[in-house]
Amino acid sequence: MIEIVNVRKTFQDLEVLKGISLKIEDHEIYGIIGQSGAGKSTLLRCINGLEPYDSGEIRVDDTVVSVKDKKALRNLQKEMGMIFQGFNLLERLNVYDNIALPMKFWGMKTKTPEAKERIMKLIRLVGLEEKVYARPGELSGGQKQRVAIARALVLEPKFLLCDEATSALDPEITKGILSLLQRINQELGITIIVVTHQMEVVKQICRRVAFLNNGVVLAEGRPEELFVKPERKEIRKFLHEDSELLPEEGINIQLFFTGEGSEEPVVTQMARALQTDFSISWAKLEDFRKNVYGSLVITVKEEDKDRVTEFLDHKGVAWEVISSGKGEV
Ligand SMILES: Nc1ncnc2c1ncn2[C@@H]1O[C@H](COP(=O)(O)OP(=O)(O)OP(=O)(O)O)[C@@H](O)[C@H]1O
Ligand SMILES: [Mg+2]
Repeated sequence: MIEIVNVRKTFQDLEVLKGISLKIEDHEIYGIIGQSGAGKSTLLRCINGLEPYDSGEIRVDDTVVSVKDKKALRNLQKEMGMIFQGFNLLERLNVYDNIALPMKFWGMKTKTPEAKERIMKLIRLVGLEEKVYARPGELSGGQKQRVAIARALVLEPKFLLCDEATSALDPEITKGILSLLQRINQELGITIIVVTHQMEVVKQICRRVAFLNNGVVLAEGRPEELFVKPERKEIRKFLHEDSELLPEEGINIQLFFTGEGSEEPVVTQMARALQTDFSISWAKLEDFRKNVYGSLVITVKEEDKDRVTEFLDHKGVAWEVISSGKGEV
């Protein structure tokens, strides 16, 4: 488990992490999302000790991450594989030797039968059997990231930290990398932290996510909660939902569909049951891992408001009246 307690970090005069507290459980895929400059990479680098923090505490399986104790830190870093947007492969080495590199750093032999078995197993896991002797220059971006993932796993870490691992890849290739990360999480039981500014990444694989803004965790929870019903203005802005204009006439009611019963045609049923008309003023439906979640704003006549909300309560749909004046969802 990784516990981050009230961590602060300043670069010169700039306070980049302003008291971050998070808990990442074993075996989960945890997302850290937020816009550029939010402090995501800095937080990740503090977790694996590449960067010192000023105050607070980060504990990895009860060991405090501290750059002061070099030996303890090196042992901790062995438990934390890391991948980046830029892959960071060595051009002069082939796929096999790139993956073997961390073993070399630890003074381990890389050509013994056991070492070969370990490395070839990873090459099969990431699906690069055909490319064992290829150089990075002969690989596509997605294949390079697969090499980087295998390299990050070669010391058999407990954690995998990913910093914008898919940001340089196109959507199809991203999907492949994300399902690979899911397999690694499920089959090897590795805890994964995913730092990203891509909402798609969080939606597809994260069990929980923290939204980081300006060095502060503004919200934390299941992605579907955070994105279907964002309480904070900053998150709505991040999701580009702040500029939606709603009608000034009538009552705007926002409905939330959270998994169960999402498929039930509540809206058409309501129109029929109440014999009334209303317009759909705004809607979004999102695929979160296996389920569809969504939110819908309907605009009803003043006199229908009570009947409509009663119907929604009866159907167990969460709802909220939102004012049209402020012009945002
Ligand atoms: N080594 C450094 N020295 C000085 N300032 C830094 C350093 N590293 C990061 N910063 C600053 O800290 C802030 C947070 O940077 P960080 O890289 O953590 O953001 P991020 O959320 O990862 O952004 P991005 O999505 O662009 O990668 C930024 O304002 C950045 O300029
Ligand atoms: Mg970053």
